[in-house]
Amino acid sequence: MNLLVTGGAGFIGSNFIFYERKHHPEDRIVCLDALTYAGNLSTLASVLDQPGFRFVKMDIRDREAVFALFEEEKFDIVVNFAAESHVDRSIENPGIFLETNILGTANLMDASRKYGVGRFHQVSTDEVYGDLPLDRPDLFFTEETPIHTSSPYSSSKAAADLLALAYYRTFGLPVSVSRCSNNYGPYQFPEKLIPLMIANALADKPLPVYGTGENVRDWLYVEDHCKAVDLIMRNGRVGEVYNIGGHNEMANINIVKIILKELGKPESLITFVADRKGHDMRYAIDPSKIHAELGWLPETMFADGIKKTIRWYLDNQEWWKTIVSGEYQQYYEKMYGNR
Ligand code: NAD
Ligand code: TYD
Repeated sequence: MNLLVTGGAGFIGSNFIFYERKHHPEDRIVCLDALTYAGNLSTLASVLDQPGFRFVKMDIRDREAVFALFEEEKFDIVVNFAAESHVDRSIENPGIFLETNILGTANLMDASRKYGVGRFHQVSTDEVYGDLPLDRPDLFFTEETPIHTSSPYSSSKAAADLLALAYYRTFGLPVSVSRCSNNYGPYQFPEKLIPLMIANALADKPLPVYGTGENVRDWLYVEDHCKAVDLIMRNGRVGEVYNIGGHNEMANINIVKIILKELGKPESLITFVADRKGHDMRYAIDPSKIHAELGWLPETMFADGIKKTIRWYLDNQEWWKTIVSGEYQQYYEKMYGNR
């Protein structure tokens, strides 16, 4: 099997490559990544020189280059992780989200059609469903929940997700789509909640909690997401959407307190800052379909996963301290300087 993993130098894509190498060493993997601020080749150091692995620095917006690669490689499966992925950045600059997340995905699917790819898996997000109210804990997102997005990020992901389903219906491209909840784990860029709070706590810097900190996310350890994507792309039905999530809802403020406690830092570091514009209240996934059809269940409990994650950030300070230099410093000043 010849597999294309786009966005494999980012957080989930790299963890997915490690998962595939471990569980399907017989498969060849080509990783395509533009190495934006969020992509880091050093993350892939342990696999870069392995036989059966190829890294290609390429932008999915570059249609000609994408087509040339597909012609050369004759992929069996394409898994599309490549995306602009941060909601706050999409509020600052929506344009790049439309280009990469929508047009880039269209390029990959057009090439998949032309070169007869056997499965195109689109990694979507639970954010396409919008949010749920805090006072209705009985409500969950199912695959039938209407798409109702809030941010330029989620809107661009919804466009790509629906386009993938349209390519199945219109052209018969063998597509599957997964909509996962918030991931955490090793190699997540420290602009996202959990690694940002770990990094700030370690530096005794203020921990910027948006609004009141009551917003709820449904957290899943990244390896569990990777396992689900692997099952869907190999055994899931084409033309179908699968929700992925582990019934692990937590308010942001509680996550921040857990991190402080684990690191032995005082809660006085918590600083409430101006809320995110259009901030989604609650995400909560009903994963019954993937459980019933593919037998998937999350394996890592949050209590263990968060400890492992904090340990990883403690043991790999060089990785994140290097990547948070440069562009990220300017971003941090802009986003949090006067908030
Ligand atoms: P990330 O930002 O860590 O990684 C994205 C990767 O894509 C980076 O390596 C980047 O260099 C690459 N990339 C960006 N633009 C590109 C382009 N134009 N061409 C080629 N490569 C490009 O993101 P992540 O958190 O690993 O998310 C991966 C995917 O999973 C995204 O599609 C995201 O929408 C989805 N997702 C993420 C979460 C989450 O909690 N992080 C949850 C559900 C779904
Ligand atoms: P984030 O990790 O950006 O993921 P998403 O917005 O895709 O869910 O944020 C998770 C939650 O944490 C979200 O409710 C926003 C909040 N948040 C903060 O309170 N402070 C921060 O500095 C960041 C980055 C996020």
